[in-house]
Amino acid sequence: MTGVVLHLDGVRKSYQTGTLHVDALRGIDLGIDEGDYVAIMGPSGSGKSTLMNILGCLDTPTSGTYRLVGVDVGELSENELAEVRNRLIGFVFQQFNLLAHLTALRNVELPLAYAGVPGDERRRRALAALGRVGLSDRVDHRPRELSGGQQQRVAIARALVTDPALILADEPTGNLDSRSTRDVLALLEELHDQGRTIVLITHEEEVARAAQRVVRIHDGELRVTAPAVRR
Ligand SMILES: Nc1ncnc2c1ncn2[C@@H]1O[C@H](COP(=O)(O)OP(=O)(O)O)[C@@H](O)[C@H]1O
Ligand SMILES: [Mg+2]
Repeated sequence: MTGVVLHLDGVRKSYQTGTLHVDALRGIDLGIDEGDYVAIMGPSGSGKSTLMNILGCLDTPTSGTYRLVGVDVGELSENELAEVRNRLIGFVFQQFNLLAHLTALRNVELPLAYAGVPGDERRRRALAALGRVGLSDRVDHRPRELSGGQQQRVAIARALVTDPALILADEPTGNLDSRSTRDVLALLEELHDQGRTIVLITHEEEVARAAQRVVRIHDGELRVTAPAVRR
């Protein structure tokens, strides 16, 4: 059975900076089910980061509702938002966001440490996640001892290790060369094939094509296009 992972209903987000008012999201309706792989595409300034911040529970809508695994995110306190983020979402960022002084293993263990998972289980699960992304032979390396593509795979292992309901990847190939881009997209596709739910935000057509469904955002509004044919 596939369930609904998230649902946005009439989500609007406005920013007020001095006298300037910006409607960054202007009524977004979007549903994502378990096992979906969706790319959100749009040009600069279209509202991608704003939408990503809402999907990732880093920010809340000005109006409308966002439900994540049945939880109405707009009703949550800052602490509850942080807990939902840690428990339900695995983030992958363009800049990898790994801690430079920690080994790959320690970086991947971090979300489990925040969740209060005991040390030996933490280590076991982090090693399994690193194995899953093909980095069993790099667990003691620090970020600077890894290539960009390998660093992003560590970040994907870190996103996976909590077994989140949603993997949210914001321009995950933005800092990678074309070969590492292919590696990372192949890995995301594998995870999708294993039933993971993935939302990928990108401004590149070629990257968006890796997803099963492409949603286009323009001036804070969505246009949903036909599903791509799976290779
Ligand atoms: N924190 C903010 N304060 C004021 N305006 C913002 C803020 N964040 C984004 N905006 C405005 O909202 C619109 C959408 O921005 P953004 O979501 O960053 O787009 P994208 O990620 O697609 O480039 C832009 O017009 C931007 O200037
Ligand atoms: Mg952006």
